Amino acid sequence: MASAGEYPRHVSRALSTLIDEDAIGARVGELAAEISADYADVDELVLIGVLKGSFIFLADLSRRMTVPHRIEFIAVSSYGERESEDPGAVRLILDVRHDIGGRHVLVIEDIVDTGHTLAYLMRLLSARLPESLKSCTLIRKPDRAEVDVAIDYLGFDIPDVWVVGYGLDYAEKYRTLPRICALER
Ligand code: IMP
Ligand code: MG
Repeated sequence: MASAGEYPRHVSRALSTLIDEDAIGARVGELAAEISADYADVDELVLIGVLKGSFIFLADLSRRMTVPHRIEFIAVSSYGERESEDPGAVRLILDVRHDIGGRHVLVIEDIVDTGHTLAYLMRLLSARLPESLKSCTLIRKPDRAEVDVAIDYLGFDIPDVWVVGYGLDYAEKYRTLPRICALER
């Protein structure tokens, strides 16, 4: 059986911290303040978290917002695991449970890599005629961009590395690490 302390030591060999807890917390607070100011006159903002990766970011961000809001979730899966499929194709797995027509909507993403996922979601949701539609992502990898998609609120730009923690995974692992780490190849 593993003794206390062994797991963190093991993890620290494979992962290097890119953004620590304090930096994440400070930036999430700034984003919450900016969003709250921008939507100060809105009756109820609809936050749509993109599962699974955004769940921790959404939890922290929403609790620091001072404007009335409700939480919805949407889930997508990317094609492309099989070579024959279009690597940019995105599939809807779970839809929001309420009509967003006429509502003010803010999509909350964990990370924008190539941009295909967010571009797909913005197309899908804008077709439902919300009053306004904006996007917020904690992380963006500008070097990986393949499609041009507007990001209205951005936490951090990072280089082209695979990151885990704070909701982000590698093969479903590391999501609950409190900091964002680069996974060494
Ligand atoms: P995109 O469609 O290429 O922008 O990919 C976005 C999705 O890919 C994200 O929502 C994540 O699920 C996943 N992803 C991309 N890069 C990373 C990463 O570095 N760590 C964890 N997940 C990632
Ligand atoms: Mg995501």
